Amino acid sequence: MARNIIILGAQWGDEGKGKIVDLLTQKVSAVVRFQGGHNAGHTLVIDDDKIILRLIPSGILHDNVRCFIGNGVVLSPSALLEEMDELEARGVPVKKRLRISYASSLLLPYHVALDKARELARGSDAIGTTGRGIGPAYEDKVARRGLRASDLLDANTLAEKLEPLAEYHNFMLQNYYGVESLSFKKVFDDLMQVGEKIKPLLTDVVMDLKQLQDDNKNILFEGAQGALLDIDHGTYPFVTSSNTTAGAASTGSGFGPLYFDYVLGIIKAYTTRVGSGPFPTELHDAFGKRMAERGNEFGSVTKRPRRCGWFDAVAMQRVVQINSISGLCITKLDVLDGFETVKICVAYENGVPTYEELPGWSESTYGVKEISGLPVNAQNYLARLSELLEIPVDIVSTGPDRNETIILNDLFG
Ligand code: GDP
Ligand code: IMO
Ligand code: MG
Repeated sequence: MARNIIILGAQWGDEGKGKIVDLLTQKVSAVVRFQGGHNAGHTLVIDDDKIILRLIPSGILHDNVRCFIGNGVVLSPSALLEEMDELEARGVPVKKRLRISYASSLLLPYHVALDKARELARGSDAIGTTGRGIGPAYEDKVARRGLRASDLLDANTLAEKLEPLAEYHNFMLQNYYGVESLSFKKVFDDLMQVGEKIKPLLTDVVMDLKQLQDDNKNILFEGAQGALLDIDHGTYPFVTSSNTTAGAASTGSGFGPLYFDYVLGIIKAYTTRVGSGPFPTELHDAFGKRMAERGNEFGSVTKRPRRCGWFDAVAMQRVVQINSISGLCITKLDVLDGFETVKICVAYENGVPTYEELPGWSESTYGVKEISGLPVNAQNYLARLSELLEIPVDIVSTGPDRNETIILNDLFG
């Protein structure tokens, strides 16, 4: 029987989703992105070669795999083209492997300008967005005035729909935010030009996925961001503008909820966050600094330093529930090598985390590929996380490379 698996970030993003999706793509026929946009930065490392994917699914490097961008994604045509060009230059046949839903929402230059203007206007209350226009693009979608990928098919329709949108956003940019407006003609011409290259990739993702399902093929659904950035369940308003949780895999792709078999939650062995907002287990001491240094914790999209802290089992218990997470992939275990003790937040008292302290390990776990190769204390740490979250650990990641991985359960049976 084919297996359809959702892969989600369970924290505030950057858990290592890209690496795991790339690894598991060896076993599937298709990989689907269903929400977010080029705010995502998913890193793949293969034999010292590093690739950062933003919109294109992390399965794209594999032959005989079809990659889909679903209706739930906000698609910047220019960002997509840039990414396609980079990959094609490396010899990856993107045009052959990638297809895009007619119903995906277009992210336009107005959205980027608005995102930046809003952040500036918020001053010290800024959300710390990636500045890619994600929020304003989803606003247009929900307001039912947005453009969709299918609008690229006909120049007249595109102009008719874009003109009032341009007028509306330019009014806001100029009169409310006091920043420069964007020429309709330039936005339109650019869109037409880029659109020509995207048009041949458009498809009805719903029917393509049905065909794969009828052919008994495995499909991976690749989440972007993380559960705590979910617009409904995250640390609102310091969140992204999409649902990042498991339900979005269905609504954002058109693959019915009962067709999924497994939800794999990706979590770091500790916690990080980029941008503003609450982070109760954040460390401002030498331990946090050590995590940031050893984990090379800088945003893959914006290069901003990531805030670091201990693992929050209380938050993760809730995330397991919201997403019906079946099993865990714990990444960046190697970053905790050499800590004398490691802490897990197991409760909150008046909003203050209470920690359980476990003995650390001095041995290197970097690149270890068998569970028996891990120091006993590292094994105990993983076992304790599994016990607290009441789900199994399926995969442990011990380095950025595809191969630096311990597989405990074969998710495809
Ligand atoms: P994503 O957004 O969830 O795909 O994660 P990012 O790619 O933004 O961030 C994860 C970072 O950690 C990347 O630089 C990865 O190459 C790196 N990484 C992933 N897994 C491991 C691991 O197990 N150990 C170490 N040291 N680095 C890892
Ligand atoms: P991946 O898929 C980490 C954060 C931003 C900001 C908030 C809102 O690589 O894990 P947005 O631009 O989405 O409106 O910003 O969400 N954010 C991410 N943080 N990883 C990501 O993606 C993120 N995408 C958005 O830093 O706090
Ligand atoms: Mg990332």
